[in-house]
Amino acid sequence: MVAVDGDDIVGFGRIRPHKEVYELGCVGVLENRRNQGIGRIIVKHLINIFPTSDVYITTDMPDYFKSFGFRKIETGPKELIEKLKRVCKSKCREEAVVMVYNKEI
Ligand SMILES: CC(C)(COP(=O)(O)OP(=O)(O)OC[C@H]1O[C@@H](n2cnc3c(N)ncnc32)[C@H](O)[C@@H]1OP(=O)(O)O)[C@@H](O)C(=O)NCCC(=O)NCCS
Repeated sequence: MVAVDGDDIVGFGRIRPHKEVYELGCVGVLENRRNQGIGRIIVKHLINIFPTSDVYITTDMPDYFKSFGFRKIETGPKELIEKLKRVCKSKCREEAVVMVYNKEI
């Protein structure tokens, strides 16, 4: 999904299907439009339309996602743990973790 202001795309996010689970990902807001609640609207909308009750995310911003109720998990779905191992090899994402939010709680 994208967040638009007039003709401008100011933010985006997506639900990525893996083989066995879905992942909420790629949330981004233009630098000059941050801290205006746009990211929150995107994340909440993606949670609402998420196809399963467990909403997974891999992120290097755990504190941001904690504010929505996401919690860090050590033993997540195999596909996401494997993805994490791959991204952790790239120096820029050493802090990445798997988190989950359960819509039914
Ligand atoms: C993460 C991101 C999408 C947030 O978008 P945003 O529109 O600025 O977020 P919101 O306006 O909804 O929320 C801002 C709040 O989050 C907090 N916040 C921002 N970055 C944070 C971080 N890394 N850790 C904890 N809190 C953070 C702000 O302090 C602010 O708090 P406040 O509401 O108490 O003032 C944006 O900073 C971004 O595009 N970052 C770069 C891309 C990225 O790393 N995305 C995550 C990939 S999983």
